[in-house]
Amino acid sequence: MDPLAAAALDARQLARAPYSNFRVGAALEDEDGRIHTGCNIESASYGLTVCAERVAAFRAIASGARRFRRLAVAADTHTLTPPCGACRQVLWELCGDIEILLVNPLGKIESLRLSSLFPRPFDATFLH
Ligand code: THU
Repeated sequence: MDPLAAAALDARQLARAPYSNFRVGAALEDEDGRIHTGCNIESASYGLTVCAERVAAFRAIASGARRFRRLAVAADTHTLTPPCGACRQVLWELCGDIEILLVNPLGKIESLRLSSLFPRPFDATFLH
């Protein structure tokens, strides 16, 4: 299996999801080949929950990474789980038009580009 997909599946095991029991893992590969992982972290104040994708992206940025190649997202669903709308916005701004791998524990895998999931984004180009 692709090591990035395997890292996302591993990261999923670390999810803190006591309210939804829906565990998600993410693994973001930077331009140097380093892998930054994340899992969803839920709050009893539900709206404060952070998705696995944003945890991975924020950990990567906080580790000094700035350019990225690919993100893998892992969840235990037959229909592969894509990033939510909020994560698409953040990923677009922090990572640009990266490849997104969706994967499940059975090894089903699909590759997409972020631009196909998030057409016509609002981003910094409108602010300058
Ligand atoms: N979740 C993610 O971490 N990533 C996604 O792509 C979809 C949703 C989390 C948020 C929440 O903890 C749980 O899954 C159910 O929405």
